[in-house]
Amino acid sequence: MKGVLICGGSGTRLRPLTEITNKSLLPVYDRPLVEYPLRTLIAGGVTDIVVISGNEHIDQMRGYLGDGTRFGCTCTYQVQEKPQGIAQALGLAETFAAGDSICAILGDNIFFDDLASSIKSFKTGGHVFLKEVTDAERFGVAELNGKWKMENGKCEVISIEEKPKKPKSNLAVTGCYLYDNRCFDVIKNLKPSARGEFEITDVSRWYMEQKALTASVLKDEWIDAGTFESLHRAAVMVRERK
Ligand code: G1P
Repeated sequence: MKGVLICGGSGTRLRPLTEITNKSLLPVYDRPLVEYPLRTLIAGGVTDIVVISGNEHIDQMRGYLGDGTRFGCTCTYQVQEKPQGIAQALGLAETFAAGDSICAILGDNIFFDDLASSIKSFKTGGHVFLKEVTDAERFGVAELNGKWKMENGKCEVISIEEKPKKPKSNLAVTGCYLYDNRCFDVIKNLKPSARGEFEITDVSRWYMEQKALTASVLKDEWIDAGTFESLHRAAVMVRERK
């Protein structure tokens, strides 16, 4: 399995902190944010990683992560010319993936659960990680088939929507996605959403329609550190757990 670390976006909600600096290089207590998703990949045994970022930030990312040696992985870099969504960023990793399955993770997501066993046991289809939240309309939202549960605690996803006005559940889709190599063909056939982006939720929905999308529900904290509040909360939480 190959890793795709997606550090795109302009970080509008974190200005002026993101005027010069990529969101994923902002501090979370004693480490830049990106180290947390990077370590999630590495803990899952995913050490061959492509970092995707915009033209304006790719040199910063390369400057900090380098060839990955000091983190115990191999990092290569790919520019996303225009910020047109997470699925578009992932699509850029097709050559890098070279037929393999991928674990894509967002550079601003911090997971306190251990995802390693799910990542290591992944074989085919798609798998997403869900977290109960009180503001589901801000995220991708998934609904589960309550009757259907695999031995390893995985559930079948029966609906998935991007930022729905009336969420069908309180389960947010977090920013870590496991897909087999078919995701690249799916991305080629995507149409942009109303916000003009190629949505990762549409990739997951394709797997759901093939009855091949499973999910696990996280028990511990998960933070999408895209706002001042969540970035601050992340720092406090990391410090508390030291
Ligand atoms: C993205 C995804 C969304 C997901 C979220 C997790 O949203 O589109 O489905 O729930 O990441 O962090 P964005 O942060 O781009 O608004």
